[in-house]
Amino acid sequence: MNKHRVLLLGSGGREHAIAHSINKSSKLEKLFVAPGNAGTGQIAENVELSLSDFSSIKHFIEQNQVNLLIIGPEQPLVDGLVDFLDQHFDEDALCTVGPHKQAAQLEGSKDFSKQFMQRHNIPTAKYQTFTKGSIEKGFAFLETLQAPYVIKADGLAAGKGVIILNNLLEAKDTLKEMLYGDLVGNAAEKVVIEEFLDGIEVSFFALVNGNDYCLLPHAKDYKRIGEGDTGKNTGGMGSISPVPFVDEAFEQKVKTQIIEPTIQGLAKEKIHYQGFIFFGLINCGGQPKVIEYNARMGDPETQVVFSRINSDVLELFEHYQNKSLSAYNIEINPQHCASVIMVSGGYPGSYEKGKTITGFNKTSDQSMIFHAGTKLVGNSIFTNGGRVLAATNFGGTLKEALAQSYQNLDALNFDYAYYRKDIGHEFI
Ligand code: AMP
Ligand code: GLY
Repeated sequence: MNKHRVLLLGSGGREHAIAHSINKSSKLEKLFVAPGNAGTGQIAENVELSLSDFSSIKHFIEQNQVNLLIIGPEQPLVDGLVDFLDQHFDEDALCTVGPHKQAAQLEGSKDFSKQFMQRHNIPTAKYQTFTKGSIEKGFAFLETLQAPYVIKADGLAAGKGVIILNNLLEAKDTLKEMLYGDLVGNAAEKVVIEEFLDGIEVSFFALVNGNDYCLLPHAKDYKRIGEGDTGKNTGGMGSISPVPFVDEAFEQKVKTQIIEPTIQGLAKEKIHYQGFIFFGLINCGGQPKVIEYNARMGDPETQVVFSRINSDVLELFEHYQNKSLSAYNIEINPQHCASVIMVSGGYPGSYEKGKTITGFNKTSDQSMIFHAGTKLVGNSIFTNGGRVLAATNFGGTLKEALAQSYQNLDALNFDYAYYRKDIGHEFI
């Protein structure tokens, strides 16, 4: 097999972690990351491309003989980048890791994904969908539920589309605000109201090409800004893999009741799925239920999930292209991996950018410091976003992995930096 010329789209910690794995492959000829960050710029060539400018992406692929495209974030998937590229490249010339627009609806529409789960008996929270025309029914449905109330805007909302309320009046107001106001950017055409599920969340990941798939390591992320899971939701403040409560019996349930019915359900409905599926699950007293699907890898889960893949990831993508994933023996590092995110003070609210980051030379060689919002200017690296760095380490135990990550974070510094000190602590 020839060596690969790879284009990876995105600029977060997820993309730096994927780039780090690709960079280790003996099958790599050239790796481009668009637009990338200061971290990806150290191991690949960053390219100024806008992810909404499909024809420039197509041009770049042609001009640079890219044969493997990996799409990190969800927006270009939901907007139809893969459908657009399909019109210009045949599948032998360009292997694309990312689903078409229709299949990306698993993430792009909560209503679509809930209906899909219902059709295929996939365990999830009970729900109903409402529009402006049926808002009165929505109020009546809320009255039949017990607090807390879970209200979700149908479309992509950059992590701001789910609101959980303890008070019925506030829940009714939120439903109205979502349908009529600009609570989630634009007014939502549809709003899903669902039963609140109580339990610990865990994320599973599969690389899928039609009926063929392979399971990647599972992980848990920490979404709230504050210690003890308090305060506002963020993109994610840390992640661990594996997750201590996931035993063989639980994993078997996830496979047979959720992952396989999802992949078979898509095939039955003649929806071709290609790319990653992220199963956001909740453990309700030993029973896994689906909170959401994403049509991509998670961030910061990828930092621990990809780090644990010992196999050559370009070989993994070759098996993806040849639909031989099920027969492939993917090698996983049995150690514990932990990633702790350092963010700009004020995040997820407003924060300043452009702070000098110091201490990279003081971190340990075994540590993977993945970059998210960083930018290289001259010889210095500056903050350029809310989530800035992800200190990622292995350990024989979760405690050891976390201790290593925290030690490395101690070495790093920028003005107003913040990180949670309790990632993974409920399991120690
Ligand atoms: P989603 O965007 O659907 O992943 O929702 C964001 C977050 O809201 C999830 O990670 C959960 O923490 C929470 N959440 C969503 N749906 C429910 C539910 N039905 N019950 C409890 N928590 C939920
Ligand atoms: N960490 C959650 C996500 O990527 O959506």
